[in-house]
Amino acid sequence: MVTVVTHPLVQHKLSLMRDVRTGVKEFRELAAELSMLLAYEAMRDLELEPAHLQTPLRAGDFPMLSGKKLALVAILRAGLIMTDAIVNLVPAAKVGHIGLYRDPQTLLPVAYYNKLPADIAERRVFLTDPMLATGGSASAAIASLKLAGAQSIKLMTILAAPEGIAIVERDHPEVDIVTAAVDEGLNDHGYIVPGLGDAGDRIYGTK
Ligand code: PRP
Ligand code: URA
Repeated sequence: MVTVVTHPLVQHKLSLMRDVRTGVKEFRELAAELSMLLAYEAMRDLELEPAHLQTPLRAGDFPMLSGKKLALVAILRAGLIMTDAIVNLVPAAKVGHIGLYRDPQTLLPVAYYNKLPADIAERRVFLTDPMLATGGSASAAIASLKLAGAQSIKLMTILAAPEGIAIVERDHPEVDIVTAAVDEGLNDHGYIVPGLGDAGDRIYGTK
């Protein structure tokens, strides 16, 4: 299932990220803000249970998070900006990292790092990467999460291409995707069009 978050704040911030005139500092801030807004939607179905509390006025039962604990997993390097922001909302979440880069010739993901919470099988996993282009990186990351025992995985992206969504749905039909937009498609170099360019380079100023 794909959820496109159409909230005006999300759409406005995404358009600012697309703008070629947006510099590194603002791009980074927007990516962080957008990530928190996407998390609000992605975490909509977290379980609650009543906790007995005393307010300054009286005692009562009030909803608190319950159920499985959370793990945020970043696909390096661009996904890091998302987990760094979202962890502010869910400070008890554990954070994992999957290092993948896309080979510029083949566009296939190359793995270089993997460090996940040891108890990932018991956690709800939110996998983050701003860009879902060919889908190769996300699909490989989900496969390595499953290999580590993860049972509940949601993919959060800022921008998705229909091609990438199709690959994730083919390889991992049980994984829901939350994104701010689904663009037209990919160009010959595997970039999302109209897109926002190279997310990692724009976040870290490496171009
Ligand atoms: C970008 C992006 C995704 C991947 C998406 O990362 O952050 O991880 O490309 O492309 P795909 O869907 O076709 O696999 P990149 O490989 O540029 O690495 P970086 O984050 O280290 O810059
Ligand atoms: N990775 C990016 O950062 N941008 C794209 O458009 C495609 C892959």
